[in-house]
Amino acid sequence: MLRNTLATALKSTKAMRARAASSKQTRAFTQATLPDLPYGYGELEDAISGQIMEIHHSKHHNTYVTNFNAAMEQYQEAEAKNDVAKMIQLQGAIKFNGGGHVNHSIFWTNLAPPSQGGGAPPTGELLNMIEAKWGSLENFQTTFSATTAAVQGSGWGWLGYNQGSKSLEIVTCANQDPCSTTGTVPLLGVDVWEHAYYLDYKNVRPDYLKAIWKVVNWGNVTERFNAAK
Ligand SMILES: [Fe+2]
Repeated sequence: MLRNTLATALKSTKAMRARAASSKQTRAFTQATLPDLPYGYGELEDAISGQIMEIHHSKHHNTYVTNFNAAMEQYQEAEAKNDVAKMIQLQGAIKFNGGGHVNHSIFWTNLAPPSQGGGAPPTGELLNMIEAKWGSLENFQTTFSATTAAVQGSGWGWLGYNQGSKSLEIVTCANQDPCSTTGTVPLLGVDVWEHAYYLDYKNVRPDYLKAIWKVVNWGNVTERFNAAK
């Protein structure tokens, strides 16, 4: 009787170990990849030159992807060794490069050539909420541009949706901190790192932030709003 009980317990332990091993094997990190742009580099020239778009996407964003994958690979190795100090050490690189990948991936889809709807104003519930909070779309754009122009150093301006208060908010982030760190869901992001505008606008960041509205893809912003609310 005791022998049978012990045999059953042993079998059960072996099964648990096998399941745990199998579970570890299925946790492999899926590498991030550089997404294709949904338009050509030269198609946003009403606001951003093809030269900036090409460098920004193929060099800057690509570097964030490469460095994020490298940091995650090291993180996995550290995790496998239970090296907590190393795991903590890597968090800065993961936040910076992972944030850069996440932010740019949203930014590209937030933009569109005028021939594909870029610059066409929002309608419906999103427009109603913008007008209720800022008085008009124009006033929202002016406020967003002024708030984002005031980011010190490198960073981003965002229109975010606060799911707790069910409201829209203009927020800013330093460096590559993602919008989610502000407690809001990202709807529209504008990159104000110098690499995003300097070749076209030199030091005049406000001119870039005035022109960007010509290529904002409000259709994409609305899709994000509908998914977030
Ligand atoms: Fe950027």
